[in-house]
Amino acid sequence: IVGALFIIFNWHPVLMVAGLVVLYGNAVVLFRVPFTWRQKKLTWKLVHGSLMLLALLLSVLGLCAVFDNHRSSNIPDMYSLHSWVGICTVIMFWLLGLAGFLLPCSPPRFRSNLKPVHVWMGKAILILSLTSCISGINEQLFFTLGKPYNSLPAEAKFANSLGLLIVAFVLVVFGILSNDDWQRPETHHESAPVSMGDILLIILLSINTNRKRPFCFEMTKM
Ligand code: HEM
Repeated sequence: IVGALFIIFNWHPVLMVAGLVVLYGNAVVLFRVPFTWRQKKLTWKLVHGSLMLLALLLSVLGLCAVFDNHRSSNIPDMYSLHSWVGICTVIMFWLLGLAGFLLPCSPPRFRSNLKPVHVWMGKAILILSLTSCISGINEQLFFTLGKPYNSLPAEAKFANSLGLLIVAFVLVVFGILSNDDWQRPETHHESAPVSMGDILLIILLSINTNRKRPFCFEMTKM
C-alpha cells in the first residue's frame, strides 16, 4: 500500500511541472512566434486557450494526486510554505482561466483594456509556478533522502539538476516575453482603449434591450 501511495504522489510533481511549467510556458510565448503574425489571431488564441485548458486539467489532476495521498496516509493538508504558495498559484491560474473564457463574451474594446492585467497575471503565475516547483523539490528531498542532503547523493544531484532545468526554462520564457521585437503587431482595433462613457453606454443598452418600452421613449417624455 505504501508503494502504491508513493506512486500516486509521484504524479503530483510530474503533472504540476508538465502543466504549470511546460504547457503553460509554451502557451504564453505562442503569440511571440513571428510566423504566427501572418496568420489569423483567432486561430492562435484558440491554440493558446486549448494549451491553457490542458494545463488546467493537469494541475487539477496533480492536486488530486497529492490531496489523495495525504488523505490516505493521514497527513494534514496545507501546512507547508510550498502548499500555501502552490495553492495561490493554482487559484490565480483558475481565476485567469475563468476570466479568459468570459472575456470573449465582452466588448472588444473592454477586452483590450483588460489585456495588461491579463498579461501581468500571466507572468505572475509563471513566477509562482517556478517558486512552487523549487520549494516542492526541496521539500521532497528533505522528506525522502536516505543520506544527509549535504553529502549530495545521486538523487539530490538529479533533483537539483531538474530544479535548475526548470529555472532555465522559465528564464528563457521571460527572455522571450520581455523582447519587444517579438511582440505581435497590434491592429488599431485590438489596442483601442475603453472609456467610462463606453461602459455606461453598454450598461444602458443592455438595460434597454430587457425593457418592453424603449429607453429613448422615456427620455423624450422627461
Ligand atoms: C506548479 C507546481 C506545483 C504546485 C502548484 C504545487 C501545489 C501543491 C499543493 C497545493 C500542495 C498541498 C497539498 C495538501 O496539503 O494536501 C502540495 C503538496 C506537496 N507538493 Fe507540490 N506543487 C507543485 C509542484 C511540486 C513539485 C515539483 C514537487 C516536487 C517533488 C512538489 C512536492 C510536494 C510535496 C512533497 C507535497 C506534500 C507536502 C506539502 O503539503 O507541502 N510539488 N503541492
